[in-house]
Amino acid sequence: MLIRQKLTFLIFLMPFIGSVAASDLHLSGDTAAGQRLHQARCSGCHVKQFGGDGSGVYLRTPRRVSNVQELVEFSNRLKHFNRTMDPSLQLDDIQMGNIIAYINKYYYHFY
Ligand code: HEC
Repeated sequence: MLIRQKLTFLIFLMPFIGSVAASDLHLSGDTAAGQRLHQARCSGCHVKQFGGDGSGVYLRTPRRVSNVQELVEFSNRLKHFNRTMDPSLQLDDIQMGNIIAYINKYYYHFY
């Protein structure tokens, strides 16, 4: 009986787990690789704009980003970071997933 309840619960959850995995978020990215990419592509500008090591932008109140979806959207927003970046340095989904995993692990803790 108990096993059946657990199974029902798992089956109930599956569409949700599936939809996260299927949405190209790559949430379980490689945080070490993400840290290196973030250092190369993101920090410089945040340091210039916010001083210190640039992480103030992730720790400020109020923050622009309040959940994973927004974090992904904000990080991918062309207007945000590609404006002054060399177009040949485009980040693919996996690289962006690594960066997001890194930012989440050290600053946002959404997942
Ligand atoms: C050209 C400069 C620049 C670059 C490069 C840049 N950022 Fe930003 N970032 C900013 C500025 C300026 C803000 C504040 C924007 C605002 O308040 O609308 C910001 C804000 C953010 C925020 C929102 C913080 C919050 O919760 O309030 C996130 C997340 C973010 N950046 C991620 C990234 C990532 C990831 C990269 C690299 C892929 C990156 N940024 C590269 C300038 C930059």
